[in-house]
Amino acid sequence: MKTTIDDCRIIELPKISARQGNITFVEGIKHVPFSIERVYYIYDVPGGEERGAHAHIELMQILVSAMGAFDVILDDGHQKKKFHMDRAYYGVLVPRMIWREIVNFSSGGICLVLASQPYNEHDYIRDYSHFIKLKNSA
Ligand code: TYD
Repeated sequence: MKTTIDDCRIIELPKISARQGNITFVEGIKHVPFSIERVYYIYDVPGGEERGAHAHIELMQILVSAMGAFDVILDDGHQKKKFHMDRAYYGVLVPRMIWREIVNFSSGGICLVLASQPYNEHDYIRDYSHFIKLKNSA
C-alpha cells in the first residue's frame, strides 16, 4: 500500500473525566488500528532539539502528547502536514513509509509512542533521499 498524507490522522482516545482527574487508556485493535507491541516515550528534550527525521518500512505508530506539547511534521514525499499535539487524549497515526519529524517540544513535554512492532533498526529509513527514492518506486 502506498501511504499518503491522507492516511495520517488524529485518533481520539477514550477519556474518563472525574473530579479527581482524567484517565485515558488504549487497547490495541480496539482503540488504535493495530496491535500494540511496544510502548516508548521521549522526554527531557532540550529546548530547540528535534527528534524523528526518519521513516519506517513497516512500523505503524501513534504519537500522543502525554504532557506538554510538540509538533509532528509528516511527509509522504509529495505533501507535508503539521499536527500540533497538546492533549493526552489525542494521538496522531503515523502509517508506514511516512517521514516524520518531531519539533517544538515544550519544556517538560513527553511524547508517548504506541508502536505496532518491537524495535528493529532494519525497519528504519534514516536518509531522506533514499526515502524519496523508495516512495517513487513503490
Ligand atoms: P530513534 O528512534 O532513532 O529516536 P528518534 O527518532 O526519536 O530520534 O532511537 C534513538 C536510539 O534509541 C536508537 O539508536 C535505538 C534506541 N531505541 C531502542 O533501542 N529501542 C526503541 O524502542 C527505540 C524507539 C529506540
